Amino acid sequence: MKALVVYSTLTGNTRKVAEAIHAVLPEGTACHSVRTAPDPAGYDFVALGFWVDKGGPDAEAADYMKRIVGKKVFTFFTLGADPDSEHARTCAERAAAVYGEGTEQLGIVWCQGAIDPKLIAWMRKQPAGGPHSPTPEAEARWAKAALHPDEADLKAAAAAAREAFAKASR
Ligand SMILES: Cc1cc2nc3c(=O)[nH]c(=O)nc-3n(C[C@H](O)[C@H](O)[C@H](O)COP(=O)(O)O)c2cc1C
Repeated sequence: MKALVVYSTLTGNTRKVAEAIHAVLPEGTACHSVRTAPDPAGYDFVALGFWVDKGGPDAEAADYMKRIVGKKVFTFFTLGADPDSEHARTCAERAAAVYGEGTEQLGIVWCQGAIDPKLIAWMRKQPAGGPHSPTPEAEARWAKAALHPDEADLKAAAAAAREAFAKASR
């Protein structure tokens, strides 16, 4: 069972999760940024990570996901929103639909990730009443996101990935 970890990241959150997953997969498993990732055709199992951009996988991750055809995969992602929100669940559903034909997703996990300070600065300038306005609730969510991924997130992601790999190996 040849395994590969591929992640897309802008500010490092998703890379942290990828590294935690990589650490619990068998020795010899490769771990790459999506920018340098090898062709997935040469692997049996791919753990694929993206950051959420506009409610779905970021474009670079999505391009790579489409190229994963007929494989077993595990998906992980980080997002700024509450991980227990409808938005998070929609992101997960959208992701599962992006993979190429015949690819079977054996697990998926997500957690919050610190939001790029540049994006927060932009949101703070938005007029009241918009979807990105700086309400007290939004400020609280951004502050909470800033603490993630934390140790518990990394542990949970690693355990879920290991379970998916075990399933793939059966
Ligand atoms: C341009 C941009 C768009 C984003 N869009 C969303 C979004 O639609 N929903 C969400 O929950 N988080 C969104 N986020 C937050 C990121 O998904 C989150 O901070 C993520 O952990 C970043 O991961 P990274 O550090 O691996 O790049 C966005 C962030 C940026 C910079």
